[in-house]
Amino acid sequence: MIKFDASHACKMEEILAHQDRVNALHKEIVEKTGTGNDFLGWVDWYKNYDKEEFEKVKESAKYIRENCDVFLVCGIGGSYLGARAAIEMINGLYADKKPEIIFVGNTFSSTYIAQVMKYIENKEVCVNVISKSGTTTETALAFRLLKQFMEKKYGKDEAKNRIFATTDKSRGTLRAMADKEGYTTFVIPDDIGGRYSVITPVGLLPIAVAGISIDDLMAGVEEAYNDLADPDLTKNPAYAYAVARRVLEGKGKNAEMFVTYDLNTTMLAEWWKQLFGESEGKDGKGVLPCSATFSTDLHSLGQFVQDGTKCLFETLVLFEKPIEDVIFPSDEENMDGMNYLAGKNVDWINKMAMQGTLDAHENTGGVPNLLITVDDMSAKSFGYLCYFFFRACAMTCYMLDINPFNQPGVEVYKKNMFKLLGKN
Ligand code: PA5
Repeated sequence: MIKFDASHACKMEEILAHQDRVNALHKEIVEKTGTGNDFLGWVDWYKNYDKEEFEKVKESAKYIRENCDVFLVCGIGGSYLGARAAIEMINGLYADKKPEIIFVGNTFSSTYIAQVMKYIENKEVCVNVISKSGTTTETALAFRLLKQFMEKKYGKDEAKNRIFATTDKSRGTLRAMADKEGYTTFVIPDDIGGRYSVITPVGLLPIAVAGISIDDLMAGVEEAYNDLADPDLTKNPAYAYAVARRVLEGKGKNAEMFVTYDLNTTMLAEWWKQLFGESEGKDGKGVLPCSATFSTDLHSLGQFVQDGTKCLFETLVLFEKPIEDVIFPSDEENMDGMNYLAGKNVDWINKMAMQGTLDAHENTGGVPNLLITVDDMSAKSFGYLCYFFFRACAMTCYMLDINPFNQPGVEVYKKNMFKLLGKN
């Protein structure tokens, strides 16, 4: 389902030189003995997840789909990025699907918050508030506004039927509030951190509301688990990718640009950036994750990649099959001179742009490219891709002696902000 090709970036021998270390670290991942091992629940989640809760997710998704025009997903970081990435990648950006899904609780932007509140005024609404800690300020702020809106619009009794809370099983203010108010709740497992939680109800409820098969998604996770069971770097593309990142970093490449050629995968890049940035960027170490969507960004960042500082490598994620295709029409007058493309598929044109760019960046620009090829943009491929990156991320961080599962740096801004806000 996924192919990895490092031949545009480094030699296979450079990757294979790390086999012994990879074998040892693989053991720490699958036996859950590595650093931060109390957050390795995602490793075999495909078989350990609560099957009853999984059915409850589907039932709630059905209820939500039947009862609202707008579904608000209220969460930040790992509590929203995975769901948004999946929905956009699998459905596309303009899929004619109901309900409309809007993400909130991920910003202090008053303009955004005020405009969403106005937009939902006369609509039928359901809300899913998602927070593992239950105390994240952006999310709590938006949820207070939404809770008051829902109770005013529907009354307390009906509001509680339309509010769904995904949080810790016993701790935190959101858990206490959800239990007191009688919301339907879903559990974020103790041993799965936010950025690894898209395969739990955190991601699964919004994804199911978007009409996507969560059975297929979990089947992709399971397939990836099985395919990545062998640490042999000639057979394990996730680990080969993890090692290639370290090889390129060793050659002074301190930034990694995640590149796709489809606008509906821009949020996938945002999810990937969070996964790698928050997992790896600590102790003064790590490769800076950044992203671009080509060919759109060839008309902006493309200049830097081609001719700028040689600090980066690209990780090119290619989807073999698009969701939809368009045949470019012929035109009798041909005033735009575009008839040379008449009868061609636009996806073929996109792939030619990709090939030309790869050649330009690699051979003229001297920018190494790692290639990850994915069959299609299905739910199964999304599940597979997530698990592929989870494994790669854990391995690449362990190779740097970093705990991939904490985020101590995030607390610094919060401390300063709370002081300024007068929070006790
Ligand atoms: O990956 C992480 O752990 C973080 O990005 C969290 O998901 C994010 O900070 C939101 O936290 P919470 O779900 O506790 O509100």
